[in-house]
Amino acid sequence: MIASAPGKVILFGEHAVVYGRHAVVTAINRRCYADVKKSSEIRIRSSIATTELDFDKHPYVSFAIKRFMSFSPISGVEIKIRSKIPVSSGLGSSAAVTVSVLKALDAEFEAGLTNEDIYEIARKVELDVQGRASGTDPFISTYGGSWLIPERKKIGVDNLRILIIDSQQSSVTSEMVSKVAKLRERYPEIIEDIFDAIDSISLRSIDSLEKKDFSKISDMVFINQCLLRSISISNERIDELISRLSRDGITAKITGAGGGGCLIGFGSDEAIASVLDNYPAFAVEPELEGVKIEH
Ligand code: MEV
Repeated sequence: MIASAPGKVILFGEHAVVYGRHAVVTAINRRCYADVKKSSEIRIRSSIATTELDFDKHPYVSFAIKRFMSFSPISGVEIKIRSKIPVSSGLGSSAAVTVSVLKALDAEFEAGLTNEDIYEIARKVELDVQGRASGTDPFISTYGGSWLIPERKKIGVDNLRILIIDSQQSSVTSEMVSKVAKLRERYPEIIEDIFDAIDSISLRSIDSLEKKDFSKISDMVFINQCLLRSISISNERIDELISRLSRDGITAKITGAGGGGCLIGFGSDEAIASVLDNYPAFAVEPELEGVKIEH
C-alpha cells in the first residue's frame, strides 16, 4: 500500500507556536511517499539507510511503527520511503514521513484509523523524537491546506507562489526548540513579549496573504525575521543570505526551526525569476490535499 503526505512551510509564527501563540502555515506541493508491505521481518528503506527498527537512523518511522503496534500487531513489514521534500530543511519532511507511513500501515494492516487518529499518533511520534513540539507539522501534513494555528481556521492563500531558498546548512528542530526554551528560561518576560509580537504578526498577516498585498507581506516577513534573529535561531550565514536576497529584491525569513534549513521569500516576478536562476532555490505552492492513499 502506498500513501503520500505533503510537506509544509510556516509562513509566520514558528517557535512562538510552541508556546501557544498563532502561526500561519500551509501545506506545499512536495510530498513524501511511503510504500508499505506485510513481510516476515521489519525493514525500513530510505535514501538515508536500510535498517530494522532504528531509533537513531530512522527515528520518526521507527516510533511510528512502535506506536502503530498498539493498534494492530505487526510481526514484519517492509517500508520504502521516497521523498520529494528536502530533509532537515524546515519543510516538514519528518512529519510527512511519519504521517504517510502511518496512513500506509493503517491501509495495509486494516487498522481502521481515522485521519484524526493518524494526526494524534504522529503528534506523539513528534514528541517521542523532539521532546517538545506544537503538533503543527503533523497537523498540516495530515490535513493539507492553509491554516491559522492553533484554532484550525482555514485561510485562503491558493495560488500564492512561495520562493524557497536553501541556506545549505541542516537544521535540527529539537536543538533549535531547546535553544529557544533555554533563552526563555533565562529571560522569560523578554522572550514572552517577543512571542506576543510574533503572534500579532501571524494575525495581521492573514488579510495581507488573502489579498496578496505583497508590500505588507514583505513588512511582516521582515519584522518576523528580526524577531527570530532576536531569539537566536538565525546565524551569520543566514543573515548574510537574507541581506544578499534583499539587495536582489526579495524579502526573506527563516521557515521552520531555523539554525539552517530553508528560507521563504517574496518579491516581484522578475526578482523571483532571477533568484531561481542564481541561488539554490525553488518555488512551491500551497497544497490542498493532505495524507492520501496513492492508486
Ligand atoms: C518546526 O517546523 C516549527 C517549530 O515551531 C516547532 C514546532 O512547532 O513544533 C520550530
